Amino acid sequence: MRLTRTHSCGVLTAKNIDTDITLMGWVATRRDHGGLIFVDLRDRAGITQVVFNPAVDPQAHELGKELRSEWVLAVRGKVSRRPAGMENPRLQTGEIEILVTEFEVLNHSKTPPFEIDDKATTNEETRLKYRYLDLRRPVMQRNLTLRHRVMQTTRNYLSEQGFTEVETPCLTKSTPEGARDFLVPARLYPGKFYALPQSPQLFKQLLMVAGFERYFQIVRCFRDEDLRADRQPEFTQIDIETSFLRSEDLLPLMEGLTAKIWREIGIELPLPFPRMTYAESMERFGLDAPDTRFGLELVDVTSIFSQTQFKVFAEVIGKGGIIKVINVKGGATFSRKELDDLTEYVKIFRAKGMAWIKRTGGEDASPILKFFSDTEKQALYAKMGFADGDLLIFGADQTKVVNDSLGNLRENLGAKLGLIDPTRLNFLWITDFPMFAFDETEQRPVAIHHPFTSPRTEDIPCLDKDPLQARSNAYDLVLNGHEIGGGSIRIHSREVQQKVFDILKIDRTEAEDRFGFLLDALEYGAPPHGGIAFGLDRVLMLLTGSESIRDVIAFPKTQKGTDPMTEAPSTVDDKQLKELGLNLRGKL
Ligand code: AMO
Ligand code: AMP
Repeated sequence: MRLTRTHSCGVLTAKNIDTDITLMGWVATRRDHGGLIFVDLRDRAGITQVVFNPAVDPQAHELGKELRSEWVLAVRGKVSRRPAGMENPRLQTGEIEILVTEFEVLNHSKTPPFEIDDKATTNEETRLKYRYLDLRRPVMQRNLTLRHRVMQTTRNYLSEQGFTEVETPCLTKSTPEGARDFLVPARLYPGKFYALPQSPQLFKQLLMVAGFERYFQIVRCFRDEDLRADRQPEFTQIDIETSFLRSEDLLPLMEGLTAKIWREIGIELPLPFPRMTYAESMERFGLDAPDTRFGLELVDVTSIFSQTQFKVFAEVIGKGGIIKVINVKGGATFSRKELDDLTEYVKIFRAKGMAWIKRTGGEDASPILKFFSDTEKQALYAKMGFADGDLLIFGADQTKVVNDSLGNLRENLGAKLGLIDPTRLNFLWITDFPMFAFDETEQRPVAIHHPFTSPRTEDIPCLDKDPLQARSNAYDLVLNGHEIGGGSIRIHSREVQQKVFDILKIDRTEAEDRFGFLLDALEYGAPPHGGIAFGLDRVLMLLTGSESIRDVIAFPKTQKGTDPMTEAPSTVDDKQLKELGLNLRGKL
C-alpha cells in the first residue's frame, strides 16, 4: 500500500474544499457517464463521491473504467464543490466530491451474491451465508455500533453505581431456567458432561454470598428451545445481582439503566415506569407481557351467562371455565373468510372455536345469537358498549386457554387493524407473579420464574396451605409486548428453599445433586439478595426497530438453529467421538 489514509468517507464537507486528501474504502457503485466515471466510495463512516475525469488525470480515468463493485480502493485527490444542482442533501458529504489524481486498487472482489445496500431483499439464508458482506450494509454497521455503545453505557452506568463485572464459567452444570441444556462431553471423564449455562443464575447468587454486593456481567446464555423472531439459542444478557436491596430499591436503579440506554438514541424516557400486577395483566390482556399501546381489552362476561341455555357456554362454566369477550370496533366489516381465518388462528392456542356477533346498520348477525336470552343480550351489550360497526369475539374455555387465545388474537388484531402507534414506547413492570403453575403433563407445580425466587413475605404461610395461591417477589420489564428483562428477590433462607423444593417435588437427593453447592452456601451467612437480567439482543431489536434479533447480532443462527456460513452444527470424525467415549445411536 503506497498511500496513507487521511480521512474517512463520512466526514468531508465544503469546509475541506481544495484540500488534498486520501480515502480508502469499497466501491459501492460505479457510474460511467461517458467522459466521467463516478464512484461512491464506502467505508464504515459513510459514502463519498469520487470522480475520475480524463481532463484531471487521463491515466486514472482509463483505470477507473475497470473498477467493479466491492473492490477495495485508495484514492487521492482534491476535494471540490459539486456542480450546482448536483448536491445530495441526504449525504453528510453531499456537497463535495473528490477529483482523483492518484489511486491504488487494494483488492479485487468477485461479484457479490447480493447488493450491499439497506434494502436487504435477499433471503436470510443467503445473507447469513455471506454474513461478512451482509454486515457491510450501512444499517448493519449502525446496529452493531449501537450495540457497542449500549454495552459501553451499561458498563459505565453500572460501574458508577458500584457494580463489579465478574465473569462466570461457560463449562458448568445444568442451571435452572427451565429450557433444555446444551451439553459438552467431558473427555477426561467419559460419560460425564458439562452443561452450557442457561444463565449465570446460581453463580451470581454465590457472588452475593461471597460479599460482592453488586455484580453485573454482559454474558452469553445458551438455551436449546424452539426459536422465534425474538429468541436465539445463544443470546446475551445484561445480568445483575445485588445484596441488601428490596425490589422497591432495585427497580428504580434498573429504570435508570434503561433510561441511559434509550438516551443513546436521543430519547428521554419518562420515569418511573408504570407497574401492573400479573393478575391484572392476565385479566385485561390475557398475556403476561402485554402490548399496552392499544385497547381491544378482554372483558370477563362469565357472570352474565351463569344460567345460559347455550350448551357450549354452559358446559364451560360447569367445568370451572370462563367466558371473555373482545369488542373489535369497526370489525363488523370482517368477511366470513376473515372470521374463519381468525378462528383457525385461535385454534393454535387450543381454543375449540370462536363465537362472534357483529352489528351492521342496526342488524345483528351471529351463529350463536339465537341461543341467548334477552336479559343475556342486554347485559352483554351494555357491558361491552356494543355499537353499530362492532364485532364481539368470544372465548369460552379453561382460563388458560381463553387468555392465551384471546390474548394472542388481540395482538394479532392490533397489528392487522393498524391500531399500534409504532412511535410509542410502553415500558411496563409486571409484578406479583404467582410462585407456581400446575403442570398438567407432569402433574406437579412448576416454578414460574425459577426455584430460587422468593415468595412475597406475606404469602409465605400460603406455601403450606395452598401453594398455587402464593405470589412471588418477581418482576418482568415489558416493552411494547416484549419481555426485555426479568428477575426476582431470591430466597436466602435454607428452610424456605427446602419448602419450595418440596412443593416442586424436587426430592432431597435430587436437590442435593443439582444445586447442593448453592444450598450449602445459603447456610454460610447468605445476605438478602435479588437481581434481574435484561435480554440485550431484544433491547437492541427494539432500540433499532428491527424485525428480528438476528439483525442486531453479528453472527446469529437461523430460525432452525444453524449457521449457513460455518455450516454448524456439523458432524465430527470417529476419532473425536472415540476420545469422548461417545457412540452414536445407530443411523440418525
Ligand atoms: P429470564 O429467563 O427471564 O431470566 O431471561 C432474562 C431475559 O433474557 C431474554 N431472553 C432471551 N433473549 C433471546 N433469546 C432467548 N432464547 C432468550 N431467553 C431469554 C429475555 C428475558 O427477559 N436468571 C434469570 C434472571 C434473574 O432472575 O435475575 C433469567 O435468566 O429478554
Ligand atoms: P357449535 O355449537 O360447536 O357449532 O358452536 C357454535 C359457535 O360457538 C361457533 O361459532 C363456534 O365457533 C363457537 N364456539 C364453540 N366452542 C367455543 C369456545 N370454546 N369458545 C368460543 N366459541 C366457541
